[in-house]
Amino acid sequence: GVVVSTLLRDTGMVTVDPGFMNTASCESQITYIDGDAGILRYRGYPIEQLAGKATFLEVAYLLIKGELPTPAELSAFEERVNRHTLVHEDFRTFMGTFPRGGHPMAIMSSAINALSTFYPESLDPFDEETVELATVLILAKTRTITSYVHRTSKGEPLLYPDYSRGYVEDFLRMTFAVPYQQYEPDPVVVDALDQLLILHADHEQNCSTSTVRIVGSSHANLYASVAAGINALSGPLHGGANEAVLKMLSEIKANGGDATEFMTRVKNKEDGVRLMGFGHRVYKNYDPRAAIVKKSAHAVLAALGKDDELLDLAMGLEEIALSDDYFVSRKLYPNVDFYTGLIYKAMGFDPSMFTPLFALGRMPGWIAQWREMMLDPQTKIGRPRQIYTGAVERDYVGLDLR
Ligand code: ACO
Repeated sequence: GVVVSTLLRDTGMVTVDPGFMNTASCESQITYIDGDAGILRYRGYPIEQLAGKATFLEVAYLLIKGELPTPAELSAFEERVNRHTLVHEDFRTFMGTFPRGGHPMAIMSSAINALSTFYPESLDPFDEETVELATVLILAKTRTITSYVHRTSKGEPLLYPDYSRGYVEDFLRMTFAVPYQQYEPDPVVVDALDQLLILHADHEQNCSTSTVRIVGSSHANLYASVAAGINALSGPLHGGANEAVLKMLSEIKANGGDATEFMTRVKNKEDGVRLMGFGHRVYKNYDPRAAIVKKSAHAVLAALGKDDELLDLAMGLEEIALSDDYFVSRKLYPNVDFYTGLIYKAMGFDPSMFTPLFALGRMPGWIAQWREMMLDPQTKIGRPRQIYTGAVERDYVGLDLR
């Protein structure tokens, strides 16, 4: 379609656009998507190049600052983030007070929101140095918090960060290590998780990012804004699809593993059954992230010596879909979620951790979008209009007459 850049001020006309299908909420220089061609770029760099060559913190720097860091800038940034990964002892106590079995996304958003109470010096949204501090603190503590979310759900003791390790490597150690025992994560797993976090790092104005922007537009601080983003991501229509894919694959397997039979049910729209992990509002072509994830799924499973029947099943479903008119005519291709759950499962994560991992990856994007918005002179408080369809004016009726 044609994108018309218009600023309508004080217009008398209001359009209703459910789901904001045709409404651009901002101008942005961060992420470019061409859904028809299957293209995704961060700050102009193709996702395929970043996911193969850069590290997660390097991409975080790129998204937030707009340019790739020099080696000196990257090591200073990594060091600063690493130095802040430790959380206050009272915060550890706070993390330990959530009930076991509590929703991990509720724990995660509460934790990020609560962080602001420990760092009151980092709340001014208009002071450059303060925003920089909040950025580093959030990136650093989210790593620790995500591992604590996992351990809290298992009732396991929380570990301290190890400054000598990299961002992803130490996240894996804090998540999976047995206290007082040596833990060396498999380098293949470290690289694969680093890559998955990069693939999730930004996706322009999706539901959670738009939420972060709208909360920030009231000049709420960065913690409050990204905590709201986590809540938006917790919904199954947004962050929960990878979990749904794994559930679907397990159910097909439990019912005899017949991919063709399942696809017939999907095409006949029996009980509204859908091929989870397929289709996307924006991509009408192969999601470029899915192509990368598919390769990684094979590499990780092979390296871990895990032969997962569910991966074969997923590939069987994809093969059918790519040559079936139902899917081809509707432009339904695998999205990023189709293979991610299989990799997370092989790495040892429970399905309830899949969405927190998405949030860990998306954090740089939320921060970059919030910062861009705060500096944009066009920004106004987010305040959509409505078309009122309720009762016309009527008089109050006293309780005794109702
Ligand atoms: N399986 C079977 N049919 C599908 C699927 C699917 N996964 N997705 C869409 N269709 C069909 C619809 O039934 C509809 O058919 P019709 O024209 O005969 O009525 C047509 O394709 C268009 O579908 P819509 O639902 O209108 O497309 P929309 O853009 O609104 O939805 C969505 C996109 C929600 C992603 C959808 O494709 C879907 O439900 N997919 C499965 C869930 C999923 O994987 N979500 C993850 C999205 S990626 C992310 O959030 C990171």
